[in-house]
Amino acid sequence: MPSLFPKDFLWGGAVAANQVEGAFNEGGKGLSTADVVKYCPPGERNSLEQLLSMSRAELYEAIADNGDGNYPKRRGIGFYHRYKEDIALFAEMGFKVFRLSISWPRIFPTGEETEPNEEGLRFYDEVFDELRKYNMEPLVTISHYEMPVHLVTKYNGWASRELVELFLRYADTVFTRYKDKVKYWLTFNEINCTLKAPFLGAGIIMDGVENEKQVAFQALHHQFVASALAVKRGREINPEFSIGCMLARKLLYPYSCRPEDVLQAQAENQMAQFCSDVQVRGYYPSYIQRHLKKHGVSIEMLPGDVEILQENLVDFLSFSYYMSSAVSTDNSITATTAGNLSTGLANPYLQTSDWGWQIDPIGLRVVLKEMHDRYQIPLFVVENGLGAADEVAEDGSIRDDYRIDYLAQHIAQMAEAIEDGVELMGYTSWGCIDLISASTSEMRKRYGYIYVDQDDEGGGTLARLRKKSFYWYKQVIATNGAELYNS
Ligand code: BG6
Repeated sequence: MPSLFPKDFLWGGAVAANQVEGAFNEGGKGLSTADVVKYCPPGERNSLEQLLSMSRAELYEAIADNGDGNYPKRRGIGFYHRYKEDIALFAEMGFKVFRLSISWPRIFPTGEETEPNEEGLRFYDEVFDELRKYNMEPLVTISHYEMPVHLVTKYNGWASRELVELFLRYADTVFTRYKDKVKYWLTFNEINCTLKAPFLGAGIIMDGVENEKQVAFQALHHQFVASALAVKRGREINPEFSIGCMLARKLLYPYSCRPEDVLQAQAENQMAQFCSDVQVRGYYPSYIQRHLKKHGVSIEMLPGDVEILQENLVDFLSFSYYMSSAVSTDNSITATTAGNLSTGLANPYLQTSDWGWQIDPIGLRVVLKEMHDRYQIPLFVVENGLGAADEVAEDGSIRDDYRIDYLAQHIAQMAEAIEDGVELMGYTSWGCIDLISASTSEMRKRYGYIYVDQDDEGGGTLARLRKKSFYWYKQVIATNGAELYNS
């Protein structure tokens, strides 16, 4: 069958600095919000709970911890020292693009310096040069779930408007430095997660806060303004830049065809798209006003904010898609499913992953079509994948057929969506090399085509091994998505 993907489709994989680099105190890097999230054995307050609501006491305890606790994002998978080996493996698969993030505290250790850390800048210069060597486009997320921890202790993260200027200094620095090396940029990873997980998305401690929604929406507004101003600045620095926004897009189905359930699902899907409405269309959509009023939220805007949002729209819309779930107004329906930073009602028609996330490839097509209809701008799937507990067989092979199935089915639905008329720029599957889980801080939850020999406690040789999916994805890329099943 001929390929349905455009000739210049950007195939590749994605990671984030805080989940791979390690070297948390090398090269002049400051402590980040990811470095203070602890891995705790079952029964203790886990990483996800910390990310959803980090307390001030917990934060200070972690800052003071110089080595007793298990903070997996401090060690990552050693990418900082092994990036050449890793990029060579991506090249072997034929990646056209590699999505990575820059660690803000590697460039501005506390976030408040007036001059950037040259050693940090040099590291990314070398990474981008290495990618260029293999003709791989970098796709760079400027802020992926980390910031200098100092900005939390001093300003309570994005709750403060001060962050806008500090972020722009950082964005300006990396745009200027890499203007000839990077074309594709994303401002904030999963910006809508600021509402669900304020510490993870925005570095906010909610201790003592009366109306958490007020603080979260205000922080989000600061991020919208910062993102729009970064788009403006980026275009001034290099008009050829292509700058996108990034959403966590979990599809929500009505549990039944009861009109109440349909309405509820519509409202929750609107909330999932609220951020892209602002960043793609350039204004707060009218439906959000009722929600804000209901929760006693009033967003403080400075003169000029409305114009900033209006005049600096993104070039493309990128998003993560892992799963779907269902919603209902009927309280007697109680079977739930786990999910990406949130739970929902279980859909009886779907299977689940080892971590209880429901697998729904058709949902990806639904989302792609819906977003295309709504925005008419290019779309980019920058995260999608299956977290699973892979086993290395005695002969050293890793037969991850379940991952191949998951990915093949999702890619097949992307091809269908393209046939449906969706303009899709590319696909970077998540965690193309095993990395530390964002939510659970586990190593055991693996997404990669490349296995990394490390356990949850940090034991292991860090050796890289090609899984079965490695060879499969190589074939997918080589055939531009035409051969998905017969590897
Ligand atoms: C996305 C994040 O929410 O999901 C990634 O952008 C994250 O950073 C990915 O790793 C998968 O989630 P998890 O919790 O399985 O690592």
